[in-house]
Amino acid sequence: MSLCNFRVFDSPEAAARVLASEVGELIRSRAGEGRQVVLGLATGNTPLPFYRELARLHREEGLSFSNVTTFNLDEYLGLPREHAESYWTFMHRNLLDHIDVPAGNVNLPSGTVPEADIPAHCADYEARIREAGGLDFQLLGIGRTGHIGFNEPGSPKDSRTRRIHLDEITRQDAAPAFGGIGNVPTHAVTMGCGTILEARRIVLLAWGSKKASIVREALRGPVNDQVSASFLQEHPNAVFYLDREAAAELI
Ligand code: GLP
Repeated sequence: MSLCNFRVFDSPEAAARVLASEVGELIRSRAGEGRQVVLGLATGNTPLPFYRELARLHREEGLSFSNVTTFNLDEYLGLPREHAESYWTFMHRNLLDHIDVPAGNVNLPSGTVPEADIPAHCADYEARIREAGGLDFQLLGIGRTGHIGFNEPGSPKDSRTRRIHLDEITRQDAAPAFGGIGNVPTHAVTMGCGTILEARRIVLLAWGSKKASIVREALRGPVNDQVSASFLQEHPNAVFYLDREAAAELI
């Protein structure tokens, strides 16, 4: 029996409002106790309405992120921070430049670490998550291969932050943004499935009919490393927030 549930919303914006209000509540209640919150963040088009709503809560409703530490799931290898398609740029453009998270609390894997130093860099990333107290909340999207972060098919359940070879399907999906598949990096650094599954709460977002079949596989298919999102079925506090189109094959 899957432990993982799903909720269906009228629109991505409606789901984003509910989720942003939950996360805002967590941030405020921790601030009231003088404690930090550790958020695991994701990239892609899917989280954009959620990030817009967090920025609005900051701008219009005084939500402060001064007690927040962030860890992103992944980064393309070979891209410097300032590259237009780096996840560093994405996160700053779409969220971090619009809220008051202290710059020193923002963590993303490096896309330019020399190859020989990647294992140490990944071990350090894991250590920083542990030292921050672990992930209170992890946001996820889902790729066409069923990946969470960049955990492509074959990623073990207990995998940790590491270098990964990107699946051709993933690279094709990224090709338009990069102006052609030849410009898409072949590798990335990603948190592992094990890293992600240690988060105390996980919310996976998916919108649109293109995600319907992989959402069904993730929630109703066998739990195995061919669809890394299927591991969420065994997490005690993971939920999928879907719009009607993405949920169409479940109901
Ligand atoms: C990339 C990211 C994932 C994301 C996926 C889906 O592969 N590394 O974190 O979930 O794309 O992207 P989109 O949300 O644009 O569909």
